Parts: sequence; structure tokens; C-alpha cells
Amino acid sequence: MSDPVLPSARPHLLCIVAARPNLMKMAPILAAFAKLAPQVRTSLVHTGQHYDTAMNAQVFADLGLRAPDINLEVGSGSHAQQTAEIMRRYETVHLDLAPHAVLVVGDVNSTLACALVAAKLGTPVIHVEAGLRSGERTMPEEINRVLTDQLSALLFTSETGARANLLREGIAEERIHFAGNVMIDSLLRELPDAVPPRISLRAHGHDTPPAYGLLTLHRPSNVDDGARLAALMEAMCTLSTQLTLLFPIHPRTRAMLDKTGLARRLREHAIMLLPPLGYLEMLGLMQGAQLVLTDSGGIQEETTALGVPCLTLRDNTERPVTVDEGTNVIAGTAPAAILSLARQVLRTGGKRGRIPQYWDGHAAERIATVTAQWLSARLAP
Ligand code: UD1
Repeated sequence: MSDPVLPSARPHLLCIVAARPNLMKMAPILAAFAKLAPQVRTSLVHTGQHYDTAMNAQVFADLGLRAPDINLEVGSGSHAQQTAEIMRRYETVHLDLAPHAVLVVGDVNSTLACALVAAKLGTPVIHVEAGLRSGERTMPEEINRVLTDQLSALLFTSETGARANLLREGIAEERIHFAGNVMIDSLLRELPDAVPPRISLRAHGHDTPPAYGLLTLHRPSNVDDGARLAALMEAMCTLSTQLTLLFPIHPRTRAMLDKTGLARRLREHAIMLLPPLGYLEMLGLMQGAQLVLTDSGGIQEETTALGVPCLTLRDNTERPVTVDEGTNVIAGTAPAAILSLARQVLRTGGKRGRIPQYWDGHAAERIATVTAQWLSARLAP
């Protein structure tokens, strides 16, 4: 008979999720801890930053992600309100659970808010997807990235260039580990179950999608300004004369399209307005697209992994490996440039690309192994 392990003797890792893209990153990490490092006890806290079924519950179901142990239910607000409310509510939970370390992913407001609370309470922070930099401080996520990395004791990077960014900011080399991309762990695991969103498409008179492009937009810089959004939508109306566009719409974008009357204009074109989709539906649509147009970070990575051409409707990316090695092209936000690049993809089939290093489905295993060793070394008497 093996010796019983006292629960209190096991390292306790508190894992944080908040917004849709966090869920695809956390699912493989929790699975890897359950399998590879079962000596580490994990708790899952959801801050409640995303709460709509489509933005949250559907993605939990698609990923088979376990229900959070605690939901802080913070909801929406200005950056200051949301960040402050997460910190206020999370501090109580952190003190209650007294974890040995806190693991945060990505770059959303909750990532920084929880990292700041943990660091101030003297608990080590582990950041997954560290070192990504767009170089643009007007982007809220860039501030979250830089500060979360400064607060972290252990930093896991997803692409090769991230290490140099961290070293430049004074992060000690021994804290940085190149683990690979956990988002691609989820993609490779779930791809066999990917489906096109039949129900939504049927409402538009299609059982299966025709040849199509896929469009997503949610960055404040693209959607919060009515004139900028109108210019982008005009470009999409023009493109739709050559290629039907499917457009699953983020709540932030939906609000602006409705407010400005642009939704009506889009409906006059071959542009299908869809609700936010689940993960499996989104994978299915990306896989079958001739072209993806997006301002999402995760979708730049997923299209590279799938070998599908991607035009990023921003002036920069914090994920340069998708451009240097993958299928991504930074198209900017000027309508003429976007249209010219889109037509080029339709003519040539777009960039081929290759799969970046460690985007191999095993990133979470590397994270669990290193973290378990690191925790036991810290807790050793
Ligand atoms: C957040 C992240 C962004 C990430 C995105 C993924 C920050 C700063 N931004 O942006 O990095 O790419 O999630 O989607 O953390 N809303 C709903 N239902 C929801 C969630 C939001 O209707 O479940 C609406 C609310 O009106 C809210 C707005 O969307 O005000 C924006 O939500 P918020 O969480 O502030 O940021 P996102 O734009 O989703």
C-alpha cells in the first residue's frame, strides 16, 4: 500500500480564468496537471469578466473544462472599475484559499488584477503566454502584459521572440521557460470534433457554408470609434461582392454596429451576421475559410496552426511568429490596403507558412512538469 498523501502537504496552485480566450489556454493546463503532476492540487477561479453563455458557458462545454470552484461575478465596467472590482473580490478568495502559487494566462484585465493581488500578498505568480509585445502602449492588453510579466516569478513563453522581450525588460533568464503554445494544444485536441455552426447558417438559408471568408473584430481601437468601424465595414461590403463573409459578432462590436446603423448596411450585402460562436463551431469555420480577417490575437495563432491565410486588421502584432513563419499578414486598417491584400489571397491562395516551434500539442505538459518541479523545490524543507 502506498503512503497516504496529506492534502495539506501537496502544493496548491490557484488558476485564474476570466474571458473567452483564457478558457482554451487553461483547459490543457488543468488536464496536464491532473495527468502529469497529480501531486499538485489545482483550484479554478473565474473572475466573471465574460459572462454571456456564448462568450463563456458554451466554450466551457466545448472544451470539457471543469466548472470553476469560485466565480467572482465581476461583469463589465470601465478598465479601472473592472480591474479594481476584480482585485477587491479576488483578495478575499486568495486569503481564504492561501495557495502556494497563482497561475494566470494571457493579457486580459483579470490577468493583471489577480497577479497584482497575489504578488502584493507574497504569493508567486506564474504567467503563461509571457513576453508577447506589440510595442503599442495604447492597447490595454499591452499594459497588462508588461506589468503581469514584471510581477511574475515563473514565465512561460509561447514563441521564440518572447524571451528577448523579457530579457530587455530586466526579467532574470532563469525565470523564463519556452513552453510553446497552449492554445494550439486545445486546437489539436478539439479539431476532430470541429463543426460548422449549422443552426446559425440555416437561419441564413444555408445548410453548409458556401466558399467564404471569416471576419472577426473586437479591438476597442477598431470598433469603439464609429468612423473607423464604418470605414472597415465599407471595405467588407466591397469584398463581399467577391467572397461571402461570415461575421460572428462580439458583444462590444454588436453594440456599435446597432448604434451606428451599420448592421443594416451589412445585411444588404453577402455578409452573414452571426452571434458569438462556440469553440468547436469557430474552429470548423476557420478550417473551411478561404481567408480569415481578424483583429484577434488567438485567431492569428489558430490560422497559422491550421495553414489558413489570415489578414490582421491592425498595424502590428504581439505574435510576430505568425507573420515570420505562419500564414498571417499585417494588413493595417486602411480599406484600400485590406482590399488589395484580400484580393491577392483570393488570386494566389495566400501564404503557406509552417508550424512554429513547440506548437505541437504538448505545451501544457511542459508547463505542468516545470511548475511541479519548481513548486516542490520551493516547498522543500
Ligand atoms: C476582453 C479582453 C481582450 C480579449 C477579449 C476576448 C481586456 C482588456 N480585454 O475584451 O483582451 O481579446 O476579452 O473576447 O481584458 N460583454 C458582454 N458579455 C460578456 C462580456 C462582455 O456583453 O460576456 C460586453 C459588455 O458590454 C462589455 C464589453 O462586451 O462592456 C467588453 O467586455 P470586456 O470584458 O470589458 O472586454 P472585451 O472587449 O470582451
